Amino acid sequence: MSTPMLAAERAALRTAAARAMRAPSEHNAQPWRWVLGPDGLDLHVDRSRRLRFTDERGHGTLLGCGCALHHLQVALAGDGWLADVRHQPDGPADRPLARIRIRPADGEPDARTSRHAAAIDERHTDRRRFSGRSVSPAVLGALDDAARPFGGVLHLTYGGHRALLAGAMRDAAARQPEQEGYLAELNQWTHRYAGAHDGIPAGARLDGPPPSYRDLVLRWFPRGTLRQPHAGADHEDASALAVLTAVDDDPVSVLRAGEALSAVLLEATAQGLGTTPVTQVLEVPETRELVRHLVVGAHRPPVCVLRLGWPDPLGAPLVPTPRRPLEQVLTEVG
Ligand SMILES: Cc1cc2nc3c(=O)[nH]c(=O)nc-3n(C[C@H](O)[C@H](O)[C@H](O)COP(=O)(O)O)c2cc1C
Repeated sequence: MSTPMLAAERAALRTAAARAMRAPSEHNAQPWRWVLGPDGLDLHVDRSRRLRFTDERGHGTLLGCGCALHHLQVALAGDGWLADVRHQPDGPADRPLARIRIRPADGEPDARTSRHAAAIDERHTDRRRFSGRSVSPAVLGALDDAARPFGGVLHLTYGGHRALLAGAMRDAAARQPEQEGYLAELNQWTHRYAGAHDGIPAGARLDGPPPSYRDLVLRWFPRGTLRQPHAGADHEDASALAVLTAVDDDPVSVLRAGEALSAVLLEATAQGLGTTPVTQVLEVPETRELVRHLVVGAHRPPVCVLRLGWPDPLGAPLVPTPRRPLEQVLTEVG
């Protein structure tokens, strides 16, 4: 039998769950729920927040939950707690995705964890043009290192592979809006009712035509108010394009890939990079297969594309996107 938690442990889990709300998720749907029980915290998927038409396979939902799980662990470690995380295969609706138990850590968190904890509030998805300064292999290598403990591998694309990926992204950007329900869902998550505290607000969406940087076309969103740093030419953006892959396609592997995605994004933020996660090319079956076979090789499934670049120094600071209050996502039992 497990020992019931002390008040300090419950408080630490509550605080960390609140910080984990800053995790990224597709369309900012925040598809997670927490249950704080007598001996730990359980992470559940909130199926009512699944993007049924955009993310038919449910991978985006699991990735978002994985990001929240990684943010939680980083926040706990930053506060001096060690988390024991058990990932559970997806099952009946009431079964958690992961169970988290904690105990006080023996020493200080390692340098990488401290950097990631500090980056939680600094990280934002940036859809603007990045600067013309390219990202060095050493920095990109540190991002791959961050992904590895969670089974993730970050594949950098260069030359012909990059051109293939960019072509597949253009193809997906043209095809996905034709899919039934896609645009209605996009409209739903970009025009939220007052007090929803979710979705992609106008301040995070570009105020111009669909963004296209060099050979790259990103997902189109309804026009917002976010301004490009300046009206420069396309070729100024020197961002790198990478594909994060998972061990396998099963729910635990994809959840863990979500933890890897969070680790990469927080490491990139800590290094000063701007980031745009993009899953559109992996949501259209034909382009997903192309990326899997021609860009990363068939043995590891791609789960997310990442655009990584140095922000233009002339760009205004990004405004944080909204999050729901903790009371709406955390239930206390026992
Ligand atoms: C799995 C996943 C897929 C995403 N796909 C896209 C995408 O295709 N295009 C995009 O602009 N942003 C994408 N995002 C970014 C989300 O829209 C963003 O995380 C969310 O709106 C919250 O904003 P924030 O990241 O600034 O906190 C994705 C994020 C995640 C976690």
